[in-house]
Amino acid sequence: MSKRYVVQTFGCQMNEHDSERIAGLLESDGYEKTNDQSDADVIVLNTCCIRENADNKLYGALGNMKRLKDKNPDLQIMVGGCLAQKDKEMIQQKAGHVDVVFGTHNVHRAGELLNQARSSGPVTEIWEAADPDEAFASALPAKPELDYKAWLTIQVGCDNSCAFCIVPSVRGEEISRPAEDIVAEAERLAGAGVSEITLLGQNVNSYGRDLALKARHAGNPDVKLRPAFANLLRSVAAVEGIRRLRYTSPHPKDMTTDVFEAMAQTPAVMPHLHFPLQSGSNAILKAMHRGYTAQRYLEKLAEARETIPDLAVTTDIIVGFPGESEEDFQATMAVAAEARFDHAFTFVYSPRPGTEAAQLSDVFCDPAEVKERFARLRTVIERNALAHNLARVGVIDEVMVEGPSKTDSDRLTGRTGQNKLVHFPKPDGPLRAGSYATVKVTEGHTSYLVGELVEITARATHRTRIAVL
Ligand code: 5AD
Ligand code: SF4
Repeated sequence: MSKRYVVQTFGCQMNEHDSERIAGLLESDGYEKTNDQSDADVIVLNTCCIRENADNKLYGALGNMKRLKDKNPDLQIMVGGCLAQKDKEMIQQKAGHVDVVFGTHNVHRAGELLNQARSSGPVTEIWEAADPDEAFASALPAKPELDYKAWLTIQVGCDNSCAFCIVPSVRGEEISRPAEDIVAEAERLAGAGVSEITLLGQNVNSYGRDLALKARHAGNPDVKLRPAFANLLRSVAAVEGIRRLRYTSPHPKDMTTDVFEAMAQTPAVMPHLHFPLQSGSNAILKAMHRGYTAQRYLEKLAEARETIPDLAVTTDIIVGFPGESEEDFQATMAVAAEARFDHAFTFVYSPRPGTEAAQLSDVFCDPAEVKERFARLRTVIERNALAHNLARVGVIDEVMVEGPSKTDSDRLTGRTGQNKLVHFPKPDGPLRAGSYATVKVTEGHTSYLVGELVEITARATHRTRIAVL
């Protein structure tokens, strides 16, 4: 019987995609997926340290695994991801039953490290920087969670230095994947029946800057340093079979008109912009090193909405950055109200080790005050979200079907081009996930829509995996 593995992911999309790579590597080594940890021969914990107290979560999970390992000494436990990159040897010092610790730059080594640990005992291998030839998830035999939509990494690392953010120190400098490789990957995915792709990177709209600089240094003075992201959007959208293209996340300071134009002119690029604001106070934006003012942010947003019809806008906002006064917070409330976001991910500031802001402990905000500000901000965010969703009532939207609704098995759930969830009654015949249908919106709620099926517009074409026994 083949050996079984489980991958547990704590974290962001980048981490989830890394987990798909790890799953792909293990499957190409003959392992089979299981959902039950007590049935597994290998347990992989893929960690993230961007926001929450990931340390506690990880060491808690590892404590539980000690019991599994006591029962089954052949069980191998691997810890990867950002937290592993940060804590390195400390993980095995604290949890001696961990077999392999690997970082964000050597995910491709997972299978080999597992074999190494089996023959010669526990191993920690962290690379300090990415190897450009190995940096891209999609170059590995990833095992996507879904067969009909996929992430495609176009860039790893980040060259910015936002004062709150641990990403540059764990993910390293920005490296862009060559455009030909990205398009080839999109073609391969489309050939396998994937019709929706999300381009992934920490700062997607500075895509290609490093490639252009490298080409110049290599003696090619004609290379333009202008942003290459808009062209990339057009090229991937042109791949046959790709009906929907999304991307995340761009940085407002690097956003250029040509990206908005490419979105507007390319029907496959969905009318959704995730545009991380972080704060509406100019003083806090400056302290965060975000590189824009609230006014500039709002101007770019207005340009996006003027250029791209029917655009939905989402954002990230941090509440309680060190030194945030009531006045600063009110500025965030005012910008949030003016920006009328469709949805916002709101976070309470959490100090991340080694970041600039973590050193500002003398001006950390009072947690009770932050909690109260957070609740006030949610009210504005949710009011706008509801208003946007109510305004969709009566509209006919095309959705990609994602499967049965989690709360009502008589309904299906799909996502509109604007990335909104819609629940609608199941049709009589089967309608597979990954299919497209038009839905008339009948209700708008804060975080979802309700609708009725109008017409099935395209049937899913991906192959359904059949378990090999
Ligand atoms: N505290 C709170 N939120 C953070 N984010 C990143 N670092 C922190 C932090 N230290 C949020 C930002 C970013 C999103 C991915 O996570 O809003 O855009
Ligand atoms: Fe972090 Fe800023 Fe880079 Fe985003 S742009 S990954 S917030 S440093």
